Amino acid sequence: MVRAPSHPALADGAHPFPHDHLLGIAALKPWEIAFLLDEAEQWVDLNRAGAAKHDGRLAGLTQINAFFENSTRTLLSFEIAGKRLGADVVNLGVSGSSVKKGETLLDTATTLNAMRPDVIVIRHAASGAVQLISEKVDCPVLNAGDGRHEHPTQALLDALTIRRRKGRIAGLKVAICGDILHSRVARSNFLLLAGQGAEVRAVAPPTLLPESVEALGVTAFTDMDEGLDGADVVMMLRLQTERMAGAYVPSTREYFHFHGLTEARLARAAPDVLVMHPGPMNRGVEIDGAIADDIARSAVTEQVEMGVAVRMACLDVLTRRRRGIAGWA
Ligand code: NCD
Repeated sequence: MVRAPSHPALADGAHPFPHDHLLGIAALKPWEIAFLLDEAEQWVDLNRAGAAKHDGRLAGLTQINAFFENSTRTLLSFEIAGKRLGADVVNLGVSGSSVKKGETLLDTATTLNAMRPDVIVIRHAASGAVQLISEKVDCPVLNAGDGRHEHPTQALLDALTIRRRKGRIAGLKVAICGDILHSRVARSNFLLLAGQGAEVRAVAPPTLLPESVEALGVTAFTDMDEGLDGADVVMMLRLQTERMAGAYVPSTREYFHFHGLTEARLARAAPDVLVMHPGPMNRGVEIDGAIADDIARSAVTEQVEMGVAVRMACLDVLTRRRRGIAGWA
């Protein structure tokens, strides 16, 4: 379904999504983000009805998921999203790829391109690697997480979860807490949520708070209680030890004591606070397991569900030109 450019979320006369790739939130206008979220809504309903797999709009298209870093949720949901739309989906994991044999990123890109895929989804440990690959291939590229840089579909699924639970994004107080320094999820969410009018807070110990974080339109807090005060949404992040050289926190026990989400600390937030986490969670490190499991407050599994819908929307929208859909040439 192609929406007319008169869609209320769009600026006058703007194309709904004039991009070849989805590399990051930074490149998107607020109305382009709203357009993707609106597109995702239909897939939530169809997925729940069990009807999405009959759509077939990507039939005959080849989707490569090239994941050079570990993943559970993102890889699976991109695979399910592609299959529900009828694409032929193939996965390349780092342990099975020639990257382990010393092949360069550009050679890998050329190799993938030679197989003539219609869309490539990439996760890579190096910031900027996905953009580099997008410049070397002839099809749309979707960033599934590049280093500490961006993870656009995660921010989109988080935004969809918030919008559905709270009815809006603008005006909400959103506290994003934990290892912000190493988090692409935090970066994409700062850009997206601040751009949609939320009041966003970055809450972290000083060692895990980038100096320039306020340039992304957020307010920085090093005290967890202050950062949570009156928050409508609390998003917890994992300590990303795989990106740390040396120790950034004295011990995980002490980290939980000062920066973990506990019942007592959550009492500082709004009474109807929504708790979120992109996963994988480390229970007892950044979040008390009982809070994560409390479905009245925690949206953790709903985030996973929204992930499939958002990725279906992104795969559909990014391949429209290729499929020759009117208005997308
Ligand atoms: C995140 C990631 O890989 O950036 N996970 C995810 O995609 N759901 C966050 C993390 O690894 O901590």
